[in-house]
Amino acid sequence: MMSVDELAALVRTIPDFPKPGIQFRDVTTLLADRRGFADLIGRMARIAAPLDPEYVIGIEARGFILGAALAHVLGAGFVPVRKAGKLPGRTVGMDYILEYGTDRLELHEGQVPAGARVILIDDLIATGGTALAAAQLLREQGASVLMALFAVDLPDLGGMAALEADGIATSAILA
Ligand code: PRP
Ligand code: ADE
Repeated sequence: MMSVDELAALVRTIPDFPKPGIQFRDVTTLLADRRGFADLIGRMARIAAPLDPEYVIGIEARGFILGAALAHVLGAGFVPVRKAGKLPGRTVGMDYILEYGTDRLELHEGQVPAGARVILIDDLIATGGTALAAAQLLREQGASVLMALFAVDLPDLGGMAALEADGIATSAILA
C-alpha cells in the first residue's frame, strides 16, 4: 500500500487551465501509475464497501474512470451522469455553476430505480456544484444517496462542506 503523501504526489498541478488563474489538479498522472491507480481504487472501495451500494454513479468525465473501476470491485452497477446532449435516451437534467463556468448534467430517466442505494463518484470536488447537481438529479429519481466520494478535495472551495450541509455524507482520499 502507498502512503497518502505518495498518492498525492502522483497528482500534478497545471497552472492556468482551462482558464487563467485556475490551478488544475490533473489525475491522469495518478491513473497512469499502476500502483497508484490500484491503491486509490482500494482506498475508495474500503470506504464504500460497508455501505453496500447497488449503483455507483460516475460523473463525466473522470468520474467514469474511477466509478467504473470501483463498481467492478464492489460488484455494483455503474450509471453515468453526463454533460448535456450526450446520453441517447430520455434524460432528466440539472444546470449548475462550475469554478470556471456553467454546465448541465443529465441522467437517463428510469436508469436508477426509486429506492436504489447509490454512491456518487468523481475525481475531484471544488465548489461542490457538480456533485450537488448530480445528487439532486438522483434524489429526484427517488434514489438514496449514501455518500459522495472523491479522489481529490480542494477544501478552500468548500464543496465537501456544501454537500454535508445538504445532508450528503462525503469523503475524499486526497486533500
Ligand atoms: C471537474 C471535476 C468535477 C468538477 C468539480 O470536471 O472532474 O467534475 O470539475 O468542480 P465543482 O466541485 O466546482 O463543481 P470538469 O467540469 O472539468 O469537467 P470534465 O470532467 O468533463 O472535464
Ligand atoms: N474542477 C474544478 N476545479 C478544478 C481544479 N482546480 N482542478 C481540476 N478540476 C477542477
